[in-house]
Amino acid sequence: MSTANKAYNQSVKSIDVISVIPQMFEALHYGVLGRAVKNGLLQITCWDVRDYSEDKHRTVDDKPYGGGPGMVMMAKPLRKAILHIQAQRDKPLWVVYLSPQGTVLKQPGVMRLKEKLSTHNLVLLCGRYEGIDERLIESLVDEECSLGDYVLSGGEFAAMVVIDAMVRLLPGALGDNTSASDDSFSRGLLEYPHYTRPENDEGARVPEVLLSGDHQAIARWRSRMALQRTLAKRPDLLESAQLSAEEKEILAELKKIIIGD
Ligand SMILES: C[S@@+](CC[C@H](N)C(=O)[O-])C[C@H]1O[C@@H](n2cnc3c(N)ncnc32)[C@H](O)[C@@H]1O
Repeated sequence: MSTANKAYNQSVKSIDVISVIPQMFEALHYGVLGRAVKNGLLQITCWDVRDYSEDKHRTVDDKPYGGGPGMVMMAKPLRKAILHIQAQRDKPLWVVYLSPQGTVLKQPGVMRLKEKLSTHNLVLLCGRYEGIDERLIESLVDEECSLGDYVLSGGEFAAMVVIDAMVRLLPGALGDNTSASDDSFSRGLLEYPHYTRPENDEGARVPEVLLSGDHQAIARWRSRMALQRTLAKRPDLLESAQLSAEEKEILAELKKIIIGD
């Protein structure tokens, strides 16, 4: 993770984050993300909005016109930060404002943003207080992205979620033995269940097929379990999942068993 103004390699995928609390992004030093950055798969640069304030108190917010509670982030420091980032980058920026009013992020949205990293420098704009001046959104924001229908106190955790979800899709981000392709939502289904040692955990045994060494049987079982648990936990996903003819057959059979359809 670099902080602003350090040496920058233009050829690498990059994400710029604008926040009043850039220190929160220390969390990105760890796990899959920390490794991806260390291995040069992408660069993440955090920018402190207060560095673009124009007064000695480093103010970035002010009272809302029309009255009411809370403060609003001023457009000017944010605009200066965005234009400063653009001047440092050779690709166009794609500015995403993390906002409860944005499109709720789902796996296809994560994939789309990951693709954007090839052609654009992604800028994640984190709001605080009551949010940011509408005129900045209208002039410089390309899309608004929400984590869900609830309100967070700031966009920082939302930005970290977006970054984490995207980065694990980058080739080489996950270890050799792991892959995002079986994960829940990657094919529109929930993933099958996992088990590890011991074979017998206080009387609960690992399903026999997983001990059989028969890879085809294991693949069939996993495919069935993915369908079964999607039907049980998230039946809404099945409406848009792309299923093979075999999966459709299994699903029809499961529906008969589980819901007597
Ligand atoms: C307290 S919220 C502002 C909420 C705003 N007054 C409203 O009601 O729409 C402060 C900041 O947190 C972030 N935020 C809050 N909820 C979010 C969500 N569900 N998804 C993404 N970001 C969110 C946004 O950056 C927002 O500007």
